[in-house]
Parts: sequence; C-alpha cells; structure tokens
Amino acid sequence: MTRLAGKSALITGAARGIGFAFAKAYLAEGARVAIADINLEEAGKAAASLGEGAIAVALDVSDQASIDACVAQVAAELDGIDILINNAALFEAAPIAEITRASYDKLFAVNVGGTLFMLQAVARHMIARGQGGKIINMASQAGRRGEALVGVYCATKAAVISLTQSAGLDLIKHRINVNAIAPGVVDGAHWDGVDAHFARLEGLPPGEKKRQVGAAVPYGRMGTAEDLTGMAIFLASSEAEYIVAQTYNVDGGNWMS
Ligand SMILES: NC(=O)c1ccc[n+]([C@@H]2O[C@H](COP(=O)([O-])OP(=O)(O)OC[C@H]3O[C@@H](n4cnc5c(N)ncnc54)[C@H](O)[C@@H]3O)[C@@H](O)[C@H]2O)c1
Repeated sequence: MTRLAGKSALITGAARGIGFAFAKAYLAEGARVAIADINLEEAGKAAASLGEGAIAVALDVSDQASIDACVAQVAAELDGIDILINNAALFEAAPIAEITRASYDKLFAVNVGGTLFMLQAVARHMIARGQGGKIINMASQAGRRGEALVGVYCATKAAVISLTQSAGLDLIKHRINVNAIAPGVVDGAHWDGVDAHFARLEGLPPGEKKRQVGAAVPYGRMGTAEDLTGMAIFLASSEAEYIVAQTYNVDGGNWMS
C-alpha cells in the first residue's frame, strides 16, 4: 500500500509500543519515519529493525532546546516534515490525597507541554514550507472522564483533546489538519506499568487489573498497538483532508462520543 508515499513523518515516543507500531505501519505505506524518543538507544534499535526509511532521533518533549533540535534535524534529514504524531507520554496513578506536585509537574510537562510545543515547532516548519501537513495527537479514553486513582493523567489527556480542538481550528487555514486518537486499553509495556500501579493501590495480584479491563471491553479483549494503525494512517492521508479538530475513539467500544 502507498497511502503515504513520499511523505515524511516524525513520531515522538516511537522507540516502543504504539509509536513503534505507527512507525512500522507508516513505512509500509511508503513514508519515511523519524523515531524520536528520550531513550535514544532503544530508538536506534527500533529504527535499525525497520531498515531503510527509518531514522532515530534524540528527543525530550519536555525540553524546548531538544524539541527545536529534533525538528530541525528531522526536517533536514527527511527533506521536510509532512506528518507529526505526538505520541510520547507518561503515566502515574495515586489517590487525590497523595498526588505530589512533582508528579503533576512531570506529567503535565511531558503529556501537555510536550504535545503543545512539539505541535508548535512542527506547525511553524509546516507553515514556512507552505505545503500543509497532518498532526495527530495521542489522547486517551482517560481524557473523556476522570478516574478516582488517575486524576493527573486523566487531566493531561483532557488537555490534549482541548489543545487538538484549538490547534485544529487555528491551523486549518494553513491546510494543517490537527486531530487526535483516543485509545482505550492497549496491551504492552505501558499497561504493564499501569497494572503494577493498580496492584499496589488496589491490593490486586499482578495481571489482575489487565484481566479486568480486558474483560470489560465490549469487543472482548484489550487492544493491541496494531488495532490503532488504521486510524493513524487514515488521519495522515489525503482522505482525511476535511477532518479538523476531532478526537476519534479507537477502543473496542469502551466510550461513545
Ligand atoms: N497503552 C495504552 O493503553 C494507552 C491508552 C490510551 C492512550 N495511550 C497513549 O498512547 C501513547 C503511546 O502509549 P504507549 O502505550 O505506546 O506508551 P509507552 O510507555 O509504551 O511508550 C512511550 C514512549 O515515550 C517515550 N518517552 C517518554 N517520555 C518522553 C519524553 N519526555 N520525550 C520523548 N519521549 C519520551 C518512552 O521512552 C517510550 O518509548 C501515549 O500518549 C499514551 O498516553 C496509551
């Protein structure tokens, strides 16, 4: 398939998990991809495993100098940036009474500040280049409603949905489409960490929270990173030209909006 032939994509947090699956799927659609991650060693291995057309780039989305350097490097090495996926994020869980300011600052700096200032840097590049572009933010079902033990993460993902709306409305005049994907529960290293948080906070045996959330999905199981790639390809393609400022649930039926 060649729905992204000739396009270049920058994907943050793509050394593993959902971002890596997106990189693989974009390559298969004819794009070149930059795997940008705070873990450069893992990003390098990920890019090498994908072969020609994938490069690894160092990026800390909570650091403005790192953002600027990453965007400049990718624009130079991939001959411009057509697609950005704001995928990097952190998760922590705590009851409201135990949330620390350090946890709040860290999650907002990465999940919200990282999304906004990556989006801004790439949008400036796209505007100057004059060829439009596609920006996809990774939201979450956690951004659709609060959860008792996940207050900060939920708030960051609600902010991502809101920023997607504002940026989408502002940037469409430059033919830059900004939209978001809201996954439900996707198995992988991220959810191994979530499961460990709940094991501690709810006194559950390891793996039990995963089993519970998987059984509760209307589709009948947790999602996989590959379940999300169709939406990521579609939103980056010319078929999504008239889609502006939307957040799409890809969650096996967990949430309807
Ligand atoms: N897995 C799920 O169930 C799920 C559900 C809803 C939404 N999401 C969202 O999807 C996205 C990807 O999730 P995942 O499960 O693949 O996560 P993951 O934890 O497996 O991968 C995140 C990647 O981001 C990188 N990263 C962390 N901090 C960074 C920083 N400051 N700068 C650059 N890179 C950084 C990590 O090194 C890692 O490679 C996230 O935005 C997440 O919130 C995931």
